[in-house]
Amino acid sequence: MSSSQHLISRVIIVSILLGVDGFNGYYRFGLARCRYSSWDLSDMEFILSIIFNKVEFARFNSTVGKYVGYTEYGVHNAEIWNKDPAIMAKWRAEMDRYCKPSAQNEINYILTKKVEPEVRLSLGKASTGGHPALLVCSAYNFYPKMIRVTWHKDGQEVTGDVVSSEELADGDWYYQTHSHLEFTPKAGEKISCVVEHESLRDPVEITWDPSMPEPERNRIAIGAAALVLGLIVTAAGFIYYKTKSRGRILVPSS
Ligand SMILES: *[C@@H]1O[C@H](CO)[C@@H](O)[C@H](O)[C@H]1NC(C)=O
Repeated sequence: MSSSQHLISRVIIVSILLGVDGFNGYYRFGLARCRYSSWDLSDMEFILSIIFNKVEFARFNSTVGKYVGYTEYGVHNAEIWNKDPAIMAKWRAEMDRYCKPSAQNEINYILTKKVEPEVRLSLGKASTGGHPALLVCSAYNFYPKMIRVTWHKDGQEVTGDVVSSEELADGDWYYQTHSHLEFTPKAGEKISCVVEHESLRDPVEITWDPSMPEPERNRIAIGAAALVLGLIVTAAGFIYYKTKSRGRILVPSS
């Protein structure tokens, strides 16, 4: 998997609001980041940025092993902090204390997580008077992001007339994507949508059934359910009637 392409920045924000003057505050904060792009954490860096009124004036960088100043004030402070063994010991230990355990959790519980897509094939637009029909193949709630949706006509992959949306983030770590196929229905033709994803051992293939567009299929399902319910009620009524009438016969009418 292309795991090494992830670049994770873990962020903790330590903020201190210095003197507030009406609505204009002076805002100083530290922004701690654990950066890594490989799962063995070999390239991990701990970065602590010190910011005052949107200007980052100094930064502790674990690769350098000390603070680096970016403004006159920052250079001056970096010099002082770098001479303080307690401060240096604290930030130099931060990678092992904080970054590595957190990253290990992220790897174990998030980055290696795989969730199968729910695939649905539907008719976006029926074919009318020579205009092609539109089929929509949707994959919902999958993770990670990488997915492949293809269309097959009689077993052959279709390359033209396909429009796919990119993977859309649901905002809860899951993704969805939609692929559209324009086609002119032909008798006996088999059209299917194939979804390949890391979470699936075998690709999911859904074949379009042109005889039953979805609303009709739903109507049939509702009708069948109503029929079953009706039969149950009828049967119950019949049994009730039978027991009642048998009971009446058993009682001697003396
Ligand atoms: C930290 O320092 C190293 C070495 O100078 C540098 O390559 C890296 O880009 C720095 N990282 C950040 C986030 O500033």
